Amino acid sequence: MATSVPADRVPDMGKRELMNLLLLGAVSLPATGMLLPYTYFFVPPGSGGDGGGTPAKDALGNVVVAEQWLKTHGPGDRTLTEGLKGDPTYLVVENDKTLATYGINAVCTHLGCVVPWNKAENKFMCPCHGSQYDNQGKVVRGPAPLSLALAHADIDDGKVIFVPWVETDFRTGENPWWS
Ligand code: FES
Repeated sequence: MATSVPADRVPDMGKRELMNLLLLGAVSLPATGMLLPYTYFFVPPGSGGDGGGTPAKDALGNVVVAEQWLKTHGPGDRTLTEGLKGDPTYLVVENDKTLATYGINAVCTHLGCVVPWNKAENKFMCPCHGSQYDNQGKVVRGPAPLSLALAHADIDDGKVIFVPWVETDFRTGENPWWS
């Protein structure tokens, strides 16, 4: 039987391949190392859509998809969703049938009742002690001392994402009391 040649050669071949691999690794590792900073430069961390945001969830706990939401919620609609930190937060449909870029936190600034939207009155009216807020959540009648908190309502990949509102309150021109 003359089959001993391959058996002798296999270890050599294996060693050679191993050497090739090591050599390749020695060349390519630094190259990979140099590429990483470029990758991070062009794709900064946090740009994946989760930069501090929370997806809005409907009453069933499903993430709100803007296009579908607008099929069933008409102009002027204000419907509760689950927002930042689980707070009940109104999604607002503007008169031009787009989603407003802000959501309104429904927690009354008096003693924390969830404030219902009263479409007929065009106001949020708290059933607990009678506070009222206009259709953007600005307080118009006490005892509530402050307007309802805001959150940004962004759309990312079709989904509605609430992001903390840290800028000036556009309704009052003041710094946000909630951040
Ligand atoms: Fe809303 Fe008191 S909790 S008015």
